[in-house]
Amino acid sequence: MKGIILAGGAGSRLYPLTLVASKQLQPVYDKPMVYYPLTTLIDNGIREFCLISTPHDLPRFRQLLGDGTAWGISIEFREQARPGGIAQAFLVADTFVGNDPVTLILGDNVFYGGDEFKRAFGEFQSGASIFGCHVHDPERYGVVEFNAKGRAISIEEKPKQPKSNYAVPGLYLYDNQVISITKSLRPSARGELEITDVNLEYLKRGQLQVYRLSRGFAWLDAGTSSSLHDASAYVQTIEKRQGIKIGCPEEASFHRGFLSLDQLAALTSKMPNCEYREYLQNVVAEATRLTTQIPPHH
Ligand code: G1P
Repeated sequence: MKGIILAGGAGSRLYPLTLVASKQLQPVYDKPMVYYPLTTLIDNGIREFCLISTPHDLPRFRQLLGDGTAWGISIEFREQARPGGIAQAFLVADTFVGNDPVTLILGDNVFYGGDEFKRAFGEFQSGASIFGCHVHDPERYGVVEFNAKGRAISIEEKPKQPKSNYAVPGLYLYDNQVISITKSLRPSARGELEITDVNLEYLKRGQLQVYRLSRGFAWLDAGTSSSLHDASAYVQTIEKRQGIKIGCPEEASFHRGFLSLDQLAALTSKMPNCEYREYLQNVVAEATRLTTQIPPHH
C-alpha cells in the first residue's frame, strides 16, 4: 500500500507563525509536526510515500525529509498548486499510486495509542476503511453516524446539527477505486473535492468500513495556536513520563525492519549532540543488548 501525506493549505489560522514555515513544519513539542503522521504510517508498514504541499513550502519539506533513503523509505514530492480539497491529493498523486491501494494521512494530525490502526491496516483488503473518534465538537469535522449494530449509516461534512459525536480523523485507507471515484467528483459548495464525498461513495457501494477508536486513543489536531500548544503539552507529558518518543520516524523504521541496527546506529552518530540523539542512542543500546544477550543455561 502506498502512502500520501497531505501537507498543503495556507495555515491562515496560525498566522503569523505560518508566514515563513507552513503549519506542518511547526514544532509539536520536540519535532516538526509532519514527523508524527509520517511515523504513524511507517508504524503501519508503509514504505513508499508521496508528500504533497504548496509550491512555496515544498522545498522546505524536501530539505527536512530528503528522499527517505536515510530512513529506509522513499519519499516523492508533489505540488498542489491551489488548495482544492483533500481528495484532490489523489489526482495530484495519480501516477504515484498507480494500480495500488493507498492510504492518505493529513500532515497536521497527531495520533497516539490504541491498536485500531494496526487492526485496520492488517485487515484491509478492498473498499475503504476510515475511523470514528469521539470528540466534543463534531461540527468541525466529517461526522459519522452508526446504527445499533455499529455499522456506519451516514457521513456529513461539518454538519450544523451533528448526528453523533464521532468525527472522522485524517487517516483514510482506500483500494484503487479511489482514483476513479475522485475523478468523478464535483467540487462542493466551498469549492473543494471533499474526502467526505469519496467516503460517501464507498458507503453507497457498501464498501466502507468504519473503525471506532477506543477511549485510550488520542487524536490531536494542531490547526489553531491553542490546539498546537495542547498537542505539544500532550506529547511532552507522555514522553517525560514514559521515556519513549512519539513520532520518531527513525525508531519506527527500525522497528519495522526498514532500517538495520547498524544503519540506525550510523544515522544516530551523525546527529548533533541533543536529546533526540541521546534517545536514539538508547534505542540502539537496548537493541544491541537484546541481540547480544547470551541465552541462560538450563
Ligand atoms: C477535513 C475533512 C473532515 C475531517 C478533518 C480531519 O476537514 O474535510 O472530514 O474530519 O479534515 O482533520 P478540514 O481540515 O478541511 O476542515
